Amino acid sequence: MDVLSRAHALEAAGRHVVHMEIGEPDFTAPPAVVEAGVRALRDGRTAYTATLGLPALREAIAAHYAARFRVTVAPERIAITAGASGALLLAAALYVDPGDEILVPDPGYPGYRHCVRAFEGIARALPVTAAAGFQPTLDMVRAAWGPRTKGLLLGSPSNPTGTVIAPGELRRIAGFIADRGGVLLADEIYQGLVYGVQPSSALGLPGAVVALNSFSKYFCMTGWRLGWIVLPEQAVRGLEKLAQHLFICAPTAAQHAAVAAFLPGTLAVLEERRREFERRRDFLVPALERAGIAVPARPSGAFYVYADCSALCDDSKRFALELLEREAVAATPGIDFGANGTRRSMRFAYTRSLGELEEAAQRLARFCAARR
Ligand SMILES: Cc1ncc(COP(=O)(O)O)c(C=O)c1O
Repeated sequence: MDVLSRAHALEAAGRHVVHMEIGEPDFTAPPAVVEAGVRALRDGRTAYTATLGLPALREAIAAHYAARFRVTVAPERIAITAGASGALLLAAALYVDPGDEILVPDPGYPGYRHCVRAFEGIARALPVTAAAGFQPTLDMVRAAWGPRTKGLLLGSPSNPTGTVIAPGELRRIAGFIADRGGVLLADEIYQGLVYGVQPSSALGLPGAVVALNSFSKYFCMTGWRLGWIVLPEQAVRGLEKLAQHLFICAPTAAQHAAVAAFLPGTLAVLEERRREFERRRDFLVPALERAGIAVPARPSGAFYVYADCSALCDDSKRFALELLEREAVAATPGIDFGANGTRRSMRFAYTRSLGELEEAAQRLARFCAARR
């Protein structure tokens, strides 16, 4: 937040800031989605929907799982939410009782621990390592699992590291959790935004698996506030009651619009954008390395590079603020994502055009050269 507000102040004073702190696509919703949303508004289709969401949207999501991920998900198990944030909150409300422990990766998305704590649970940090691609391993989960542990909440691809968990490892972890009667909460918000690996889902793995997802990232619809959650069948009624009381339903016009997100033409637009993110990643990783900023685990998803700045600085917040003051490049200090090695790490988002990234790379090279 410090970086963002200072970046805005610099811009107000006339400086050209390259924004690499922003965790949202620089693309807007695809045209067919916008059209469908406008039509819904014009036609007055804006009343509350059913709490679990528009049937047509739940069916479209189920069909998407079948077509792209070869997993069968009954539409009845899908609930539409206000973003993955709404899905996370509902999942925590459903599964976390006071004193329950949920394992969360460190570094990881800060919202995970806040959602667990909101329901008086304990978010137990799982220190993930670069050697293991900044993703949990079965050994880590086994070592951390205690009598009060209820589940594991992980993101793949991960924010902030952009890394993807190996499907075999996730399967083994799911089996371990299932044997203990726990729940695997898989945040798949960056699903589809992968490069050089197959997009996958935790759905279909053994045991109680809950998948959280969103229209924010792959579908470029952040401000439409729309996401979804896929639950084990027996959990749906409980979630429906909670959602009814907490949210009533997700935004109606956004739901009508999102049905068009799965049209073949829209998916083609999104695929071209995915390739553009891949080109940016392929530019940025070597550019950072040339500047002297190490990338200990090559990202294969999302739009983040998690870099090790320890050769230049041992305080990521200071690094971020100095980089911003001297070169007007805004990036996120690792400490925003936990306590495990985060003082020497920075997250660079490639949610800006290649031209902007080239400018950032030059500024970063100059900044790093001056510090050596
Ligand atoms: C890993 C992760 N999960 C969940 C969210 C919440 O996103 P939204 O509520 O827009 O779907 C974000 C947002 O940046 C995220 O990075």
